[in-house]
Amino acid sequence: MTQTPYYLYDLRILNDTIQVIKENISGCNYKVHYAIKANFEPRILQLLASNGFGADCVSIGEVRHAIKCGFAPENIAYAGVGKTDEEIAEAIDLNIGCFNVESVEELDIINEIAQDRNAVANVALRINPNIDAHTHHYITTGLAENKFGISLHLLDDVLSMVKSSMNLNMRGFHFHIGSQILTMEPYVLLCERIKPIMDKAVNDYGLNIDYINVGGGLGIDYENPVENPIPDFKNYFDTFKKHLQLPESVTLHFELGRSIVAQCGTLITKVIYVKHCESKQIVIVDAGMNNLIRPALYQAYHRIDNISSKSAEKETYDVVGPICESADTFAENITLPVTKRGDILAIRSVGAYGQSMSSHYNMRQDAETQFIS
Ligand code: LLP
Repeated sequence: MTQTPYYLYDLRILNDTIQVIKENISGCNYKVHYAIKANFEPRILQLLASNGFGADCVSIGEVRHAIKCGFAPENIAYAGVGKTDEEIAEAIDLNIGCFNVESVEELDIINEIAQDRNAVANVALRINPNIDAHTHHYITTGLAENKFGISLHLLDDVLSMVKSSMNLNMRGFHFHIGSQILTMEPYVLLCERIKPIMDKAVNDYGLNIDYINVGGGLGIDYENPVENPIPDFKNYFDTFKKHLQLPESVTLHFELGRSIVAQCGTLITKVIYVKHCESKQIVIVDAGMNNLIRPALYQAYHRIDNISSKSAEKETYDVVGPICESADTFAENITLPVTKRGDILAIRSVGAYGQSMSSHYNMRQDAETQFIS
C-alpha cells in the first residue's frame, strides 16, 4: 500500500465531468479554459488538454507547465495582478493566446515590452464588474474594493490607451467575480454588465472584439460529494446561453478550476492516535495543514469518511493533523464510526486547491499521488 497521506485522483470522475462539460457547450461558440491553479498534476492536465480545453495560467511557471503538458500556446490565457517584466517577455515570446490585463499600469508595460521585441501582444482587459458573488471574503474578487481588475470608471481611459498602442492587439474583456459560487444570480448580473462594455469598445472606439472571458467560480457540493460528484454545468452554461447573446465572431471563454477537478480528488490519511480528552475525542491523522490548508485558511468544510471501520457504533470526534498549530484541524465535532489507531480516513472533495496549495511547513513531506483510471 502507498505511504499515507496520499492524494487519490479518480480519473473516471474527471472524465465524466469533462464529458458533461463538452455536451453542454457543444454547438456554442464557447471555449473552456482550465484554471491550472486548482491542480497542476500532469496527468490531469494532459487529460484536459487532449479533450480540447484551454489553460488559464497565473504565473510563467504555470504557462511553461501547461505547454509541457500539451496545451497549445494559443489556448493559454495568462492572468494575474503582478506579472513581472520577465514573465511578460517570455509569454510574448511563447506567443500565448491572451494576456488578461489587470491594470492600466500593466497595459503600458506590456506594450513597451512588446515594442522592444518587435511583437504584438494579444490582450483582454480584466474589468472589475463590482458584483458581490456572496462567497467567502477571501475568494470574492469582483467587488470594487478588491485588488483585481480595472475599475469601470477607468474604462474610457483604458480603451483609448489600448487603441493607440501599436504593439497591443485588443481581443476583448475578462471578468472573474469569485469562487465557490452556488447561485446563478451573480452570473446573470455579470451577463448584464458585459453588453454595454462591449458596445462601448466597438461603437465608440472601433475596436474589433472577438473574446469575452467570464472567468470561473462555479461551486461544488462539499456536503454530498459521493452522491453529487458532477456540478450542475447545464444550469451554469444555460445561464450564459439565456442571458448573454454575443455576435457570432465573439468566442465566450470560461475559466473553471474547482468545478472541474474538486470532486475527483480525495486525501487518504491514516489515524496515528485517538486521544481521549476530558470533553472530547481527538483523532490525530498523518496528513496536516501542509497537505490541505483549506480548513485552516477558509474554515472550509470537507466531508470525512472512515473507510476502514466496520463499526455500526458512532462517536463524535475532532480530526486534526500533527502540525504545531491549533488551526491544523480538518473537522470539529463530526460523527464517525468508532475510530481507532491505524484506520484510514478519506477527506473528500480535495481535487481543487488541495495539493496545489500544499507546503513544507514543519519540514513535512509532500503527499504521494495515486490514480484510479
Ligand atoms: N479565473 C481567475 C482569474 C481566478 O482568479 C480563479 C480563481 C479562477 C479563474 C478559477 O476559479 P474556480 O473556478 O476554481 O472557482 N484557494 C481558494 C480558491 C481561490 C480561487 C482563486 N482564483 C479555495 O481553496 O477555495
